[in-house]
Amino acid sequence: MLRWPTLYAHQALTKTEDRSYDPFMAEEMADFDRLIDRRDTSSSKWDKYAGTDILPMWVADTDFLVPDFILNAIRARLDHGILGYTITPPALTEAVLDWLRHQFDWQVPAEWLVWLPGVVPGLNLATRASGQPGDALLLNTPIYYPFLALAANAGQTMLDSPLHDSQGRWEFDLDHMGALVDGFHGRTGVYMLCNPQNPTGRIYIEDELLALGQFCCDRDLVLCSDEIHCSLLLDSPQPHIPIAALDPAFARRSITLLAPNKTYNIPGESCGVAIIPDAGLRQRFIGARNGLVPHPTVLALAAATAAYQDRSTWVAQLNQYLAANRDLVAQRLNALPGVRVNQVEATYLSWIDIRPLALSAPLAHFERYGLGLSDGAQFGLPGYVRLNFGCPRARLIEGLQRFESAVRAL
Ligand SMILES: Cc1ncc(COP(=O)(O)O)c(C=O)c1O
Repeated sequence: MLRWPTLYAHQALTKTEDRSYDPFMAEEMADFDRLIDRRDTSSSKWDKYAGTDILPMWVADTDFLVPDFILNAIRARLDHGILGYTITPPALTEAVLDWLRHQFDWQVPAEWLVWLPGVVPGLNLATRASGQPGDALLLNTPIYYPFLALAANAGQTMLDSPLHDSQGRWEFDLDHMGALVDGFHGRTGVYMLCNPQNPTGRIYIEDELLALGQFCCDRDLVLCSDEIHCSLLLDSPQPHIPIAALDPAFARRSITLLAPNKTYNIPGESCGVAIIPDAGLRQRFIGARNGLVPHPTVLALAAATAAYQDRSTWVAQLNQYLAANRDLVAQRLNALPGVRVNQVEATYLSWIDIRPLALSAPLAHFERYGLGLSDGAQFGLPGYVRLNFGCPRARLIEGLQRFESAVRAL
């Protein structure tokens, strides 16, 4: 598969094979070290701990400033002065199609796109578009917690085939997945994939995706793939591969969900897109959306347009900074007894095994030492915590010190 060396600095280097080439040379460096006070801004992340000294490292947004090219696009739209009902700007459609071609060599016609105010509504619509109440949905835990509510939200049954930790490489078990589907007394409508995977930070490789796609074909399942973290590849030589781009047979049964929200830290200006090649499935998805799920807002669309038009090195710089944060988390926390940090290939989230610490209430324990984490139980796997390292290094170091104090106190 061809990929343009636009986003990832290390790929650009490999591609040119010119060791003197510096992809950042011509551009201003983003200042990811800058500390910005987010208290009293109605931030979900920070206001959860308002009035306390607890450092929030839980929900997946970062403490980095949104790049100027996005802020300027929002300002320009705002300056018009009228914020009426809106359609999707043609420039956004053009930008996302171009981006898909450049990043993944994936040719997507405009009519496959359905715009959404974020990816989570898309997950819920995909569940309803591919099954009826009483049907089942298949997934693998641990997984981003809104996945765990999808079946219940739609009156369906959740079939969970847990991932296995094979020395930090979390793997699915196709035999077990097949047995769950076969053992269910009714129909299973959809398999829900999260790639790159939240919370384990894995990027699935081509062979795994081929096996998953074939599994969905064999069982006649809709294949819904949440790929929101696809640009946060840190320094992994492993590319992101959209599963639907691998095989037309996978594409025909696929719903791929994308958004610029995580990469550019704009989840509060949320805009997402579903790519649905099959016209019938797309119509069911749109039918489930109508009247219930609003169109993205004017400002969200302006932000998303600027994001998908971005061909700068901002994301490469971000990934480079995040990779160093990831390494620091691993270096400091792996030195602690009873703590094991999973290697993160993508995302800015560390998945940390603390089972040997035998904490009955892990969140409360870390909060007592001034650190706000996410509990693995929320993702379907107790005994783990998730730490968000998407923040300036100084703040991360403070958080790691608190983590260390919390463990040493035991
Ligand atoms: C895998 C995954 N999907 C979706 C979302 C949320 O997407 P949105 O805010 O666009 O609904 C997140 C946020 O952390 C996520 O990690």
